[in-house]
Amino acid sequence: MTEPIDGAKQVRIIEHIKEMWETVMDARKNGRSIGLVPTMGALHRGHLSLIERAAAENDVTIVSIFVNPIQFDDKQDLGAYPRDLARDAASAAAVGANAIFAPSVSEMYPDGFSAYVDMTGISEALCGRVREAHFRGVCTVVAKLFHITDPDRAYFGEKDAQQAAVIKKMAADLNFNTEIVTCPTVRDTDGLALSSRNTRLDAAERNAAPCLYRALNAGAALFRSGESDAGKITEAVRAVLEAEPRARVDYAEIVDPASFRGVPKARSGDVLALAVYIGAVRLIDNLRL
Ligand code: PAJ
Repeated sequence: MTEPIDGAKQVRIIEHIKEMWETVMDARKNGRSIGLVPTMGALHRGHLSLIERAAAENDVTIVSIFVNPIQFDDKQDLGAYPRDLARDAASAAAVGANAIFAPSVSEMYPDGFSAYVDMTGISEALCGRVREAHFRGVCTVVAKLFHITDPDRAYFGEKDAQQAAVIKKMAADLNFNTEIVTCPTVRDTDGLALSSRNTRLDAAERNAAPCLYRALNAGAALFRSGESDAGKITEAVRAVLEAEPRARVDYAEIVDPASFRGVPKARSGDVLALAVYIGAVRLIDNLRL
């Protein structure tokens, strides 16, 4: 027997796939709609905005918290990832989460695990080019989470625009009956997009980090003034970043929002996307032109 998760004051933390399945089946039997917010924890206001939206649009909101080892190409990055399940569960519950799915690594990837979701095309651009197995890891874990929680809707942030586009394509290509909902980027007052990685910046780096947003806005302003040459726009973006001694550009590109391929001429709706190292921390951000 499983307890009902909707309407509960206390958020339930579920660690086992079987229990998550039973809970989802109970909710379904009672005609409840299900919203899923996949996260790796260290929840901030960006994550909470997704959970709030899911809670407003679904009867049951499940937040998954799982630091997915197979999407990290850098083991140090994986080891350094902040973890605090009790705090995350409390903040998620406060904005409407009904259940937290927090499986162990061995629960998700038992010995001998060997099925992966590989996307071609879209996942090979930008972040896929520089972070080899990243999107394979993301798609694999998200596909598993969709099977485990059977959501009507799943929520992703525009901050990770390429990830959201890759997931949309995967859900369409693999016939998941889940609507992929994207939510606007939540920023600090100085424009820096909220990210769990921001806590790794020291004070001087944190001061330097809003250069990403300034650079994006410089590019968008040039586009609005009538410039459409993608090379000229990204040059202006790079100039803002290069004025910041702590910043090192990984990529600055204008891409088609569906394919994430670079475009020679920018059109309205294209994505201006950045990955920039501030010291040793790699930050990403983007703006729709
Ligand atoms: P994570 O980095 O924890 O992000 C979880 C979700 O929160 C993603 O959809 C991300 O785009 C969104 N998000 C992060 N910062 C945001 C911000 N400032 N404003 C709005 N949304 C924001 O992305 C992942 O985890 C993982 O790759 C995951 C999809 C969970 C698969 O492991």
